[in-house]
Amino acid sequence: MKKTIVITGASSGIGRATAVYFANKGWNVAATMRNPEKEMELQTIENIKVYQLDVTDQKSIEGAYKSITADYENIDALLNNAGYALYGPFEISTSEQIRREFDVNVFGLMDVTRTFLPKFREQKSGVIMNISSMGGKITFPLISTYHSTKFAVEGFSEVLAYELEGLGVRVKLIEPGNIATDFGGRSMKFATSEEVTDYNPYVENMMAMMQAAGPDMYSQPEMVAEVIWNAATDGTDQIRYIAGDDAKELISMREKNGDEAFVKFVKEQYAIK
Ligand SMILES: NC(=O)c1ccc[n+]([C@@H]2O[C@H](COP(=O)([O-])OP(=O)(O)OC[C@H]3O[C@@H](n4cnc5c(N)ncnc54)[C@H](OP(=O)(O)O)[C@@H]3O)[C@@H](O)[C@H]2O)c1
Repeated sequence: MKKTIVITGASSGIGRATAVYFANKGWNVAATMRNPEKEMELQTIENIKVYQLDVTDQKSIEGAYKSITADYENIDALLNNAGYALYGPFEISTSEQIRREFDVNVFGLMDVTRTFLPKFREQKSGVIMNISSMGGKITFPLISTYHSTKFAVEGFSEVLAYELEGLGVRVKLIEPGNIATDFGGRSMKFATSEEVTDYNPYVENMMAMMQAAGPDMYSQPEMVAEVIWNAATDGTDQIRYIAGDDAKELISMREKNGDEAFVKFVKEQYAIK
C-alpha cells in the first residue's frame, strides 16, 4: 500500500522541501499549513494534498485529522515541523512572546501528536518525527526562549519513544544546523526595548555576525528532507538525526570537550566577557 506522511508548516522551508521530497519518492503527502488558500504550487504536484492546520488551534488540528484520515487509509509518518524563533535578551522578551513561542514550538507539536496518536496506535505502526535543532543540544546567546522550546522537544520526544515502543510506533528527532530557509526572515520575531539598553552591545554584535554570515554558513532544506527520509524509512530505533556538517561539528564538540569548554568557545565567538 502507498505510504502517507503528514507534515505541519509545509508552506515553506524544510516542511515544503520534505513534502516535495516524499512526493517524488511516491508517498502520499498531506501538506498542512495555516493558510492553504495562499498556496498555489504544492497542490499541483502529484501525490500532494494541502490541508489547513494551525498548530495553536485544536479545532483546526482535529479538522485536519478528520480530513486526512478520511482521505488516506493509513498514516505512516508525522513530521512536526512548524516552528519559529524569538530573538533578543530574555529580560526584555514579554511573557506573551515567550508563551506564544511555546504554544507553537512545544504545545502545538504536542497537540498535533496527541490528536494523531489514536491512528498510529490503531495501526500499531508509524514514525513520529519532531524537528528539533542543533539548538536542542547546544546554545547560543540571545535566543533563550527558542533553545528552551527545542530542549523541551528533545526531552518530550525521548520519553514518547519509550511510551510508544511497545505499540510499534517509533519517535525520531531531527536536529538541523543552519538551513537556508525563511527562518531568519518571517520565522524570526524580535524582543526589543527602548528603556533597557544594557544588552545593546551583545545585540549589535550578534546582528553584525548574522549579517556578515555568507551563504556558506547555510545548508539547503533538501538536505534536511533527505535526512528526514532516512529517519522515516531506515527501520531502526535510532532516535537522533543530525542534519548538516555545522550541527555535527558543534554537537560533537560539546560532547567531546564538555559543557564548560563549549560555553567558553561560544563566549569567545560572540565576544561576550
Ligand atoms: N532554518 C534553520 O536554520 C533551522 C535550524 C534548525 C531547526 N529549524 C526548525 O525547522 C522548522 C522549520 O523551519 P524553517 O527553517 O523551514 O523555517 P520557515 O521556512 O520559516 O518555515 C516555518 C514554518 O512553520 C510554520 N508555522 C509557524 N507557525 C505556525 C503555526 N502556528 N501553525 C502551523 N504552522 C506554523 C510557517 O507557516 P506560515 O507560512 O503560516 O508562517 C512555516 O511553514 C522549525 O521548527 C525550526 O525551528 C530551522
